[in-house]
Amino acid sequence: MQHSLFEPPELSFAAGAMLLRDFAQTEETDLIAAIEAIAAAAPFRQMVTPGGLTMSVAITNCGAAGWISDRAGYRYSAIDPLSQKTWPAMPEIFTNLANRAAAAAGYAGFMPDACLINRYLPGARMSLHQDRQEKPPDAPVVSISLGLSATFLWGNETRNARPLRLALHHGDAVIWGGPSRLNFHGIAPLKPGTHPMLGDKRYNLTFRKH
Ligand code: SIN
Ligand code: FE2
Repeated sequence: MQHSLFEPPELSFAAGAMLLRDFAQTEETDLIAAIEAIAAAAPFRQMVTPGGLTMSVAITNCGAAGWISDRAGYRYSAIDPLSQKTWPAMPEIFTNLANRAAAAAGYAGFMPDACLINRYLPGARMSLHQDRQEKPPDAPVVSISLGLSATFLWGNETRNARPLRLALHHGDAVIWGGPSRLNFHGIAPLKPGTHPMLGDKRYNLTFRKH
């Protein structure tokens, strides 16, 4: 989506955190094709939280390890629990995009080894959480949005801060690391809509070093 004329293409919204409008837009076709190829091998599925709730977001992964959740907890696993095989390899266009987005936000040399792919349909949401299964959590997280726009919720290092709300559109990149690395964040319930390439969906790629 074209960013508003009144909004800068780059926004440093917290120490160590940056929003880059349209960063991935020119690669949209290849990125979507890559997501669909990954999902053909490792289908999107709704996982269960340790508390027994089914997540509204459907997820899959690519790379050396994938983020999973079940009654035993949140963790990284080299094996997809559905297929009992390794996750699909991380496509070169993913690694390259994540590396460039991180560098543009001041994190040169980022080499992700895990990519969580989230699929949101209208109503799906992600409640405030920290990304803290990465050991050690020193590399940044790079997030790429595709499809329907969403509201990103950005808190601080405690769960009870009133979050900042940032609109994320197709092609936007968000990077957080350093002093922001363990900040709480989430996605408000996705509003219905129709995206020209993805219809009623939003995809989000989050790249990490696990
Ligand atoms: C996440 O925190 O894993 C997802 C964030 C998003 O969907 O933009
Ligand atoms: Fe997260």
